[in-house]
Parts: sequence; C-alpha cells; structure tokens
Amino acid sequence: MHGGNVYAASRELSCDVRDLIDFSASINPLGPSPLVWKAVSKARHLLSHYPDPECWELRQALARRWQCDVEQLVVGNGSMELIHALPSALSIRHLLLLQPTFAEYAATMARTGGRVTGVSAKRSEQYALPIDRLRRILCARSKRSHSYDGIVLCNPNSPTGQVCNAADLMELAQAAERRGIWLIVDESFADYCPERSLLPRKGRFARIVVLRSLTKFYALPGLRVGYAVADAPVVQQLRRHLPPWSVSAMGQVAALAAVQDQIHAMRSLQFITKERVRFAGELAIMPGCTVLPTYANFIFLELPRGWHAAAMAARLRRDGLLIRDCSDMPGAGARSIRVAVRSRRDNDRLLRTLAGALRQGPA
Ligand SMILES: Cc1ncc(COP(=O)(O)O)c(C=O)c1O
Repeated sequence: MHGGNVYAASRELSCDVRDLIDFSASINPLGPSPLVWKAVSKARHLLSHYPDPECWELRQALARRWQCDVEQLVVGNGSMELIHALPSALSIRHLLLLQPTFAEYAATMARTGGRVTGVSAKRSEQYALPIDRLRRILCARSKRSHSYDGIVLCNPNSPTGQVCNAADLMELAQAAERRGIWLIVDESFADYCPERSLLPRKGRFARIVVLRSLTKFYALPGLRVGYAVADAPVVQQLRRHLPPWSVSAMGQVAALAAVQDQIHAMRSLQFITKERVRFAGELAIMPGCTVLPTYANFIFLELPRGWHAAAMAARLRRDGLLIRDCSDMPGAGARSIRVAVRSRRDNDRLLRTLAGALRQGPA
C-alpha cells in the first residue's frame, strides 16, 4: 500500500481527483516550478520522437550540480525503477533494513528471492535512526553480520521524518566499504534538509549508491523521474538492468527545468520550513496526539489511545482527505499516521476535520 492513489479514492467517492486533498503523498504544495510549465509546452514537438535514452542534458545538469562526472549518474522512471533494479544489478541477497521505512525495499527483496533483516528505530527514542547500532552490526565478527551484502537507509526516513547527519553517515559508509557491503542512501526527501545529504560526494566510494527523486520536492510525481549517483562502474551495472527509454521525453524536459530553478527551490524550502512548524504545533496540541520531530515535508504522529490509524484514515477519506495509515508498516504502531505538509488552507481543513473526528471518538 502506498499513499497518493487519488484515482482509487475518486472512483470510490464518485468525485473528481481535484475534489480530494491528498495528504498521503508528500508533494511540494507550491507545485512544480513555473519554468517546468514553459519548458514542457515548448517541447511539444518531442512527443513524436522517442526520448533520449541517455537522458544526456538532464545528466549534464545534475553532474554540474553535484560536481560529479556525468558517468556517475543514471536516471530512472522514478527512483522506484532504480530501487527495483538494485538487488539484481548489485547481486544483493541479504539486506539490512532500518524499520519502519519505505516498503518497496522489502518488496523488491521478496520479489528477487532475497532476505531482509530489520533493525528497528525505537519509539522511545522518537524513532531516531540507529546509525550506531547499524555500524556495530557491520563491524561485528559474527557469522550473521558477514552474510549481509547491503544496507538501506532513507535519509530523511519515511514515514518517521528522522535524519542522521552526513558525518555519521560517512562513518557508516566507511564501515560498509571496508566490509564490501553496499550502502544505499535514499535521499528522496533530502532537498528539505540539504545539509544532511551525502551529495556532493567527498572521496571515492565504490559501494555507495545515493538515490534522489524529482517526485517530492520538485512536485513531478506524474512524470516519474529519479536518479542515482554512484561510481561509474556501478552506474553501468545499474543501466544494464533498466529498459531502454524508461524516462519519458516530457519527464526529462520537466526535470531539467525543475533542477535549474533555484528561486522556486528556495521559496519552497522557506514555505515548508515555516508551515511545518505551525502545522506540527497545531497537531501537537490535539488531545492525546503525539507528534514526532521531522526534517521532511510530512509529519509522523500517533493518534490518541483507543484509535486505530485505519479507522481515522477511513473517517477522513469520507470527507475527501487522504492520509497515510502507517499501521501496516513493520516497526510502526497501530495508531501511527503520516500527513504531508500542504498549503495553509489545506492543513487548516485537515486540522478542523481531525479535531471533529477526535471529539466524536472512534466508532
Ligand atoms: C523514501 C522513498 N523513496 C523512494 C520513493 C519512490 O519515489 P519515486 O519513484 O516517485 O521517485 C518514495 C515514494 O514514496 C519514498 O517515500
């Protein structure tokens, strides 16, 4: 189950997609850069051609941005396509996975017949990323620790919104490098806390793959663009596992315009940073709700005792408000939900409806 399925909700509620307010996918509420609209309409002639299989212009722009070689970049149909290619491309059979986290990592391991060992972030520590524990597991001399060949860490993590700092991550990277284990750092939400990112990469790492997405911060979920930054031989390995032309012409054009608009990026960051504090503060004063600290454009919270996340999601859905019920995620509690930070008006609507539901109590 993923957030963002407005199509299913519109069929179920017999309403237009535009009548729904989607808090279940965390997309920049300011929308795509205005430069994206211009670029896409200027590129209409490209619809009658195959897209550039090399994503050349986009990779050039990303290489300039991350001060890396263009050969260190591979673009996919959303970061999801790359996530699904990773186990076979890198021969990962046993993955160490922080939990709770984005479900696709476990799903792709199951699909390729691999194994997952979860390392749980603790609720009592506000789901702080257990980076020390991961490092200790890597450095242990036990037989078990020798069977891992990959670690995934989402930084910031979804759904918890927690981060680790780049210095700690580098230490983990060095431990992984020494042991010859792949470290995959999913930075799909790192545009909201750029100081935590591993990019631009410092030093040579043969075993680190950083994933980025154009879905969240650049608000292009419908166009499906994501990319990976890794050493050139790793990029070549990944490319061999991707189908040709998987990134559409419009996706490439839009992504190129999006990453070049610094003004929209700055405006988005300023807006989210401010609105997140206000929204989280309002949620935190709702009786019985526990709000966890976050560095992304979503908030992870626990409903009061007596509630189940699924019941609240169903209750809000009737009013056209979609939230992410996290009760099905290994490592999260039955009362856990995640809501995106949207416009002030949308957030106020959620606050009012949530307050009403809490007053009425669970059915
Ligand atoms: C942590 C994380 N990584 C990757 C993805 C996939 O994003 P996309 O394929 O849209 O780039 C998501 C989507 O929700 C996510 O939350």
